[in-house]
Amino acid sequence: MPSASISLLSAVLVLAVNMHAAPAPSPQGSSQILDDPKFGPIPDESSYYTSDNSTSPPFPGNYSQPVFPTSNGTAGADDLLFQNLLGAELAIYSFYQFGVETFNQSAFVEAGYPSHTYQRIVEIRDNEAGHGRIFEEQISDASTKPAPCKYQFGITSPVAFLAAHTVVEIASMAFLTGLVLQAQLNSSKAALVAIAETESRHEAWGLIDIWQQSPFAGPVDTVFPYANEILDTTTVFIVPGSCPAGNPSYPVPSQRLPSLSYQSNSTTLLPGSPVTFAFSNPANQPDFEAGTTYYAVYFHGLLNITEPFDTKTNASIIPPEFEARGLFLAVISDTPGAPTIDSVKAGPLVITEQPLVVNSGVL
Ligand SMILES: *[C@@H]1O[C@H](CO)[C@@H](O)[C@H](O)[C@H]1NC(C)=O
Ligand SMILES: *[C@@H]1O[C@H](CO)[C@@H](O)[C@H](O)[C@H]1NC(C)=O
Ligand SMILES: *[C@@H]1O[C@H](CO)[C@@H](O)[C@H](O)[C@H]1NC(C)=O
Ligand SMILES: *[C@@H]1O[C@H](CO)[C@@H](O)[C@H](O)[C@H]1NC(C)=O
Ligand SMILES: *[C@@H]1O[C@H](CO)[C@@H](O)[C@H](O)[C@H]1NC(C)=O
Ligand SMILES: *[C@@H]1O[C@H](CO)[C@@H](O)[C@H](O)[C@H]1NC(C)=O
Ligand SMILES: *[C@@H]1O[C@H](CO)[C@@H](O)[C@H](O)[C@H]1NC(C)=O
Ligand SMILES: *[C@@H]1O[C@H](CO)[C@@H](O)[C@H](O)[C@H]1NC(C)=O
Repeated sequence: MPSASISLLSAVLVLAVNMHAAPAPSPQGSSQILDDPKFGPIPDESSYYTSDNSTSPPFPGNYSQPVFPTSNGTAGADDLLFQNLLGAELAIYSFYQFGVETFNQSAFVEAGYPSHTYQRIVEIRDNEAGHGRIFEEQISDASTKPAPCKYQFGITSPVAFLAAHTVVEIASMAFLTGLVLQAQLNSSKAALVAIAETESRHEAWGLIDIWQQSPFAGPVDTVFPYANEILDTTTVFIVPGSCPAGNPSYPVPSQRLPSLSYQSNSTTLLPGSPVTFAFSNPANQPDFEAGTTYYAVYFHGLLNITEPFDTKTNASIIPPEFEARGLFLAVISDTPGAPTIDSVKAGPLVITEQPLVVNSGVL
């Protein structure tokens, strides 16, 4: 609390001095120090982002205000991409921080998981904090680096937390490959692949140790070209109105599509199974036009397969052709193959095939 009141006081002083000047992008609290890449533990040099065992928020998650631009230069070619990615990362990092603060070693052991489960969650939390620092440094001095909002995950048990971990990791692998399609700089593309590889190691750990499954998901994980549509689904975890005032919007651009879920008693989610979709946000329902045909388009690996979607019954079928491994993504589209971003009308829905039990609504 003392630091909050000090920064409030200095903000008042700056205002008093600059009464007649345009508000300059002034340091907001102590977060501005994050602008210095040499400040704090340095990713790939320090072991901090692997083995900080503290239960309190690790750097840079221990700062709550955005870092404002320190130059009037042109924004970096991939600044917007990394602002979006940092927005997602702050939610993911906060999910693991929530796990570290909510549970302890005994909680996972009592729920039947290996004795090192909590330690692994701490380690993944540290890796995610390191991603936050890496993405901050990918954003140029001419653009704002966002800070965490407050998040609500609706999770009360270790098993629900571990199920969400599996979905979070495989969904991030998918949006990272999608973001490669937006990247301008070759160096950004390589960084995105390297981060996806780390998320894939987290996923493989969970599959082996937690779910006792094969860690392998066939020859290729799933590419979904409209990465911002996946990022948009993460906004459901943000406590409304809780983001720091200076944060950029997240994500940009955003279609605010109706979210897609399914009736859990309607399907096994296995290839060939019928499925009844549902549009779970009452405030954002689809607007299906009479006389237009809509489709359910499913993505798996490098493929997509289009199936009928009945707007009267919300019924479709999971493509029988797919191998029951890894990740399926489903969207509702007005065009077979959903070939343009504007042809997507609802979704995406994340369906994990390994293990099926982690899909939301099933546990
Ligand atoms: C964190 O805990 C792990 C596992 O007990 C240990 O190997 C590591 O050295 C600890 N890190 C620090 C900085 O104490
Ligand atoms: C945040 O953590 C870093 C690394 O431990 C430390 O250097 C810094 O002083 C901390 N800052 C705040 C505001 O807690
Ligand atoms: C940007 O330019 C304006 C007007 O020249 C100046 O007041 C401001 O301090 C500059 N901001 C930065 C971050 O350099
Ligand atoms: C773990 O958390 C439970 C429930 O909050 C508590 O009763 C227990 O003492 C904690 N165990 C350890 C080792 O901290
Ligand atoms: C990216 O790499 C390709 C292939 O080497 C090269 O042709 C292109 O100029 C590079 N683009 C940038 C922006 O550096
Ligand atoms: C499945 O669940 C839905 C929604 O809760 C319900 O309306 C429907 O009757 C259920 N169907 C069956 C076959 O139990
Ligand atoms: C299909 O979805 C629409 C939109 O949410 C809903 O109004 C309708 O009740 C659903 N129909 C069935 C049969 O589930
Ligand atoms: C889906 O597959 C079709 C056929 O290969 C392709 O034309 C279409 O662009 C793909 N859709 C997306 C979103 O990649």
